[in-house]
Amino acid sequence: MSKLWGGRFTKTAEEWVDEFGASIGFDQLLVEEDIEGSLAHVKMLGKCGILTEDEVEKITEGLQKILVKAQNGELEYSVQNEDIHLNVEKFLIDEIGPVGGKLHTGRSRNDQVATDMHLYLRKQMEEILLEIKNLQNALVQQGKQHIETLIPGYTHLQRAQPVSFAHHLMAYFWMLERDYNRYADGLKRVNISPLGAGALAGTTFPIDRHYSAELLGFDGIYENSLDAVSDRDFILEFLSGSSILMMHLSRLCEEIILWSSQEFRFIELDDAFATGSSIMPQKKNPDMAELIRGKTGRVYGSLFSLLTILKGLPLAYNKDMQEDKEGMFDAVTTVKGSLKIFTGMIETMTVNTDVMEKATHSDFSNATELADYLASKGMPFRDAHEVVGKLVLHCIQQGHFLLDLPFADYKEASSLFEEDIYEVLQPKTVVARRNSAGGTGFAQVQLALEKAETLLNNKTLF
Ligand code: ARG
Repeated sequence: MSKLWGGRFTKTAEEWVDEFGASIGFDQLLVEEDIEGSLAHVKMLGKCGILTEDEVEKITEGLQKILVKAQNGELEYSVQNEDIHLNVEKFLIDEIGPVGGKLHTGRSRNDQVATDMHLYLRKQMEEILLEIKNLQNALVQQGKQHIETLIPGYTHLQRAQPVSFAHHLMAYFWMLERDYNRYADGLKRVNISPLGAGALAGTTFPIDRHYSAELLGFDGIYENSLDAVSDRDFILEFLSGSSILMMHLSRLCEEIILWSSQEFRFIELDDAFATGSSIMPQKKNPDMAELIRGKTGRVYGSLFSLLTILKGLPLAYNKDMQEDKEGMFDAVTTVKGSLKIFTGMIETMTVNTDVMEKATHSDFSNATELADYLASKGMPFRDAHEVVGKLVLHCIQQGHFLLDLPFADYKEASSLFEEDIYEVLQPKTVVARRNSAGGTGFAQVQLALEKAETLLNNKTLF
């Protein structure tokens, strides 16, 4: 079987060498984008008088037939034809005869593959934006149920100060908001057309790059043909944004894993998002959260793989760049899948409000309150810290928490203490009073949830 580029060659490569060089095994995922790009290209060739109306019509019809076959899974790709671009071109020539060979006028596989990937990533990133929004919404909906649910807040994984559970969940809402904005901003650079840059230097044909860009819904064209065919920044940005997003998810995964353990029992995952053990009948494992935490590593891997592939590459296209695809495809699948699972997990989890609340009563996370109390009565905060530290030690020695320590012990520690400390020390009071902007005070949390809902309602959907 002769190659579409075989003219210059006197012998054909061995099949196993072809197999090593081919990308059709994975870039067939781009078939629809490849045809979409070709349809715009041929229309442009017609408009510019480079092909006749009749030629454009034949090629367009042929491509549309191939598209239908692609959608029905009826195409038989061949390694001999190396990649998706040559496979589609071969299908076209088989379908409509030699006129199909005119499609490739004024373009190269180098601008073609770049165009395909811009189209692919635009579509995928728009879907990911929607999935992020869904997860944000799930967090807000759970949050609204739990404004006054208390949970110990941690630093160093040591109980620090109690917080509203909604406030804790909403921390992730804002991380996701940044993720959303990173993707949305990245889309500006994804939505630029490399088509018409040719192999690297442009073309002698009087093409109209702006016209084909417009047909494909791009906002503009690459200004430099060398840059157009060798730029993969838009994929790197996608992978960086995805790595940060996955890092965020992995943190919530870790909390979900901890919270659903026997030690915490703060939440229970719905059966649909947990699995059992093949040997221990009592087990209910948070597999999905563990998997997403693990999959974060794959996405980082794809980012580092592409950074390394591109490092030191001279202009313009180099075959190394064929290695840009699998990591990108994998990251897309991983991110979309993780977001979808996460949304379901958050929507269906049961929150053990009583266990959480009880936890806030059985620790010293209200100690800061006591120090603030003394400070607000004029004692320098440093001294107040010292007084309360001693009181905590006294409680530990006596087997008390601050709320059940007799008042006489307080009076002995400082004459500034009054009976109202027992109200001040209530976890609910502790949380309610942290009403500084962005704090966990219930009024602040209520405000944040309202702000978040407005943000979600105003998100422009792509
Ligand atoms: N399969 C190639 C890739 O994925 C397409 C571009 C090939 N260009 C070339 N001059 N060999 O990068």
